[in-house]
Amino acid sequence: MAGYVLEVIESYEEMSVRAADAVQETVERRPDAAITVPTGQTPLGMYEDLVRRVEAGTIDLSQVRIFCLDDYLGQSRHDEASLTRWLYEAFLIPAGIPESHIHRIPAAAPDPHAAALAYEREIAALGGLELAVIGLGQNGHVAFNEPGSAPDSRTRVVELTGESREQSSAYWEGEAGIPPYAITMGLGTIQEARQIVLIVSGEAKAGIVHQALEEEPKLEVPASWLQTVGERLHVILDREATSELTPR
Ligand code: PGA
Repeated sequence: MAGYVLEVIESYEEMSVRAADAVQETVERRPDAAITVPTGQTPLGMYEDLVRRVEAGTIDLSQVRIFCLDDYLGQSRHDEASLTRWLYEAFLIPAGIPESHIHRIPAAAPDPHAAALAYEREIAALGGLELAVIGLGQNGHVAFNEPGSAPDSRTRVVELTGESREQSSAYWEGEAGIPPYAITMGLGTIQEARQIVLIVSGEAKAGIVHQALEEEPKLEVPASWLQTVGERLHVILDREATSELTPR
């Protein structure tokens, strides 16, 4: 299955600039667009570039609505292992996004299942996601949609795999501190975005990039369902992440 747009960029830095360009194109077209953005190592360069653009006055993010993609269950905005906190520090605060335009995923809600449904309604109330910028986990996860996630899944509570907890432990000083559950936007929710930008960097992801983009979609590789959205999917890879792709 193909039909998605693939862009191969030489370096991580240039890949980050291209991802920031995708955000800019979206907000120029629709200043109050609802956008979801990821956490992790991969998007850091994109955030730095977007913040530079805000400071230079070349991008206006004052009306954009930001939806958090995922977080560990039970973590509130100021907690140590909160991905929402991470996003505030890496992007939302330095970019000056107004608090009223930030939609935090309800990781610490007393009833997270009901709150997850309400989060879906918040997205729908703004006309759906205009853009979803996402990364790719070593195990093929997208947000915290772990292997086995249904392609039409919605925002919900999930149990994290050992692999994801291990990947996360690199950022939070040991796996012991990583909560066992998370709340994540669903694969179905993400795939309904009018544009999806998948950014992946580095040799270590080359194998999973191949499985996600060149093999038949399957439950074991959640990212592989992204192929089914066709040209709404824009894949931006740095050269190292492409080493296991079939030369086009
Ligand atoms: P990373 O995480 O950018 O830190 O590699 C990506 C992901 O797990 O989605």
